[in-house]
Amino acid sequence: MSAPATAVRTRPAAPERGGLMCVVGARPNFMKAAPLLAAFAEGPTPLPCALVHTGQHYDAEMKDAFFRQLGIPEPDVDLGVGSGSHAWQTAEIMRRFEPVLEARRPEAVIVVGDVNSTVACALVAAKLGVPVVHVEAGLRSFDRSMPEEINRVLTDQLSELLFTTERQARENLLREGIAPWRIHFVGNVMIDTLRAQEPRAVPAAETLARLAPRALRRAGEAGHALLTLHRPGNVDRPEVLRGILDAVAEIARRLPVVFPVHPRTRAAIERLGVAGRLEAAGVVLAGPLGYLEMLGLMREARLVLTDSGGMQEETTALGVPCLTLRENTERPVTLTEGSNELVGSDPERIRAAAERVLDGGGRRGRVPERWDGQAARRIRAVLERWLADRGGLRGAAGA
Ligand code: UD1
Repeated sequence: MSAPATAVRTRPAAPERGGLMCVVGARPNFMKAAPLLAAFAEGPTPLPCALVHTGQHYDAEMKDAFFRQLGIPEPDVDLGVGSGSHAWQTAEIMRRFEPVLEARRPEAVIVVGDVNSTVACALVAAKLGVPVVHVEAGLRSFDRSMPEEINRVLTDQLSELLFTTERQARENLLREGIAPWRIHFVGNVMIDTLRAQEPRAVPAAETLARLAPRALRRAGEAGHALLTLHRPGNVDRPEVLRGILDAVAEIARRLPVVFPVHPRTRAAIERLGVAGRLEAAGVVLAGPLGYLEMLGLMREARLVLTDSGGMQEETTALGVPCLTLRENTERPVTLTEGSNELVGSDPERIRAAAERVLDGGGRRGRVPERWDGQAARRIRAVLERWLADRGGLRGAAGA
């Protein structure tokens, strides 16, 4: 479960001092940073923003496909960190990020989401006195056994400006002593990406034709379900994983279940030796898919099963029923307003909930407030005011 780290790579251009700096590390960061970079580049006076990729995710399928499909520019700096234990990975990102930050001294470091790269770079910036801006702040599962929850709480404590996706997040932050004026409810940048990319989504039939022509015929009649699974709580405990996969095999009797498998999950399935049985049951096992393929599969699915945070929100934005294979969620608006339902990892509960959805009892919900494709523009507007107040960037130039 580890990949050799590679050297830090910097684009040959002379390092620009000042400006903003945005950090990405893992797959779910890419669709959050893309609309920010696009919004900063808009108009006659763009906000300059350097892009740093930590290298937490590095596979072509986990990184390059997303950069390409989402039009993200090549990073100015690639820290080339790779995989390792949480402590190793976090420490190595910090060690490699510090000199980059010292050389460039941006006006602020923008971090998104809740992955190890987020907290590592926030901590380095805060210690060097560079203001941290957290996009997707204030989400809480109240479950400290999830590494992301620790990353969220710490990143928010280190941040100067906190941008939230749903109203509940503000209360969470106030309870933790964050000053109210730091918090801005702007909506969901990941949904900016979804709305922008919807017209380019790859039709599900096209992806299925490529992955499994036999399943395509079945899906033509019965539709398809989509499954993703990568949380350590579900994947790293063989008895839990086996139970979930048993339920999935049952569901696959009714309709093909497309299952793009995360590298960590792939290794766990190999250890269990159940891939053949799953495929025989009608589960389509694939490698990680690109954003546009996933969007098409999600939009047309009769049912999504997942333990991903992002997909709970994407299915809510699309009005597609989602069964979340966790006991809690840090994104409660997907339950109260959206199409999401928590079903945990108990096989019987998963199977019964899936039956109900497939029999027509799924939730479609409604799209939450400010999930309208404009969140990144709102963030830019707040940042411009903030920079002007500090006398930074164009503020310094008297704009
Ligand atoms: C990370 C995030 C998680 C996010 C997920 C999306 C943390 C704590 N977790 O989890 O919040 O939902 O990304 O995918 O930051 N690997 C590869 N190729 C890659 C990347 C990883 O093979 O490009 C393998 C490695 O064996 C690695 C394992 O996947 O050890 C886990 O990668 P890691 O980045 O540590 O965590 P994720 O499980 O991907």
